[in-house]
Amino acid sequence: MEIIIKKDALSGSHAAARVVARLVCEKPTAVIGLATGSTPLMLYKQLIHLHKEEGLDFSKVTTFNLDEYIGLPADHEQSYRRFMNENLFSQINIKMGNTHVPDGMAKDVPASCAAYEQAIANAGGIDLQVLGIGSDGHVGFNEPTSSFASRTRIKTLTKQTVADNARFFGGDESKVPHHCITMGIGTIMDARMNILLAFGANKAEAVAATVEGPVASIMPSSILQHHPSAKLFIDEAAATQLKLADYYRWVYDGKPDWQKDA
Ligand code: GLP
Repeated sequence: MEIIIKKDALSGSHAAARVVARLVCEKPTAVIGLATGSTPLMLYKQLIHLHKEEGLDFSKVTTFNLDEYIGLPADHEQSYRRFMNENLFSQINIKMGNTHVPDGMAKDVPASCAAYEQAIANAGGIDLQVLGIGSDGHVGFNEPTSSFASRTRIKTLTKQTVADNARFFGGDESKVPHHCITMGIGTIMDARMNILLAFGANKAEAVAATVEGPVASIMPSSILQHHPSAKLFIDEAAATQLKLADYYRWVYDGKPDWQKDA
């Protein structure tokens, strides 16, 4: 795992955007896994900026989002499909047909999940997966005790996640769906690279457990310790509980120039 501590969320997001942009430049047909939530918003803004100002070309890129609430139609204010359309897809030159978000209205959920996995495989697998992290260590919507072998499937949110996400539903917990479709931990681990973004003091505990805690399904994100290419972009506030924070800074600052954005 590579831990990249930046002074704030903006510089952390810009550093993460450089990694995504580099991939898209090197492999215009890249397959990118995307996340929702407030955390990746600045990353998406920067990608839009790079597209508009520097011509970063998404015309051949394919995307797969991590998750979606069950029961929310694509045009619902809080659906992740709508979030992605508004915050990224409509502002870059990606082909909408190349963007994929699990179908929260699927009649046959298991079949729809299997089809999602098949679509990822047909696209050649995910080159780079963007991740946020829940306060309980969930990635996508893989709540604590999710199997490390899991694939795209239905999950039930924890009460903590329902409470955390109520802010997007006018603070009303009763409006937050309890079920979702999420890529599995196994799906995420198959991505050739994972980049996890975490900003703010409320993520500090989960970040420390992810990086320095035992690998255990009670902390789903800890599985990234087993990923051959996982980078964490965090800010100072999210780094406060890391025992080896100084070491991670020392490693990053000492990287040879050619490795800096790798
Ligand atoms: C939701 C998403 C996760 C995201 C998490 C954190 O639960 N399914 O993918 O990482 O929220 O959200 P935020 O970035 O707003 O803290």
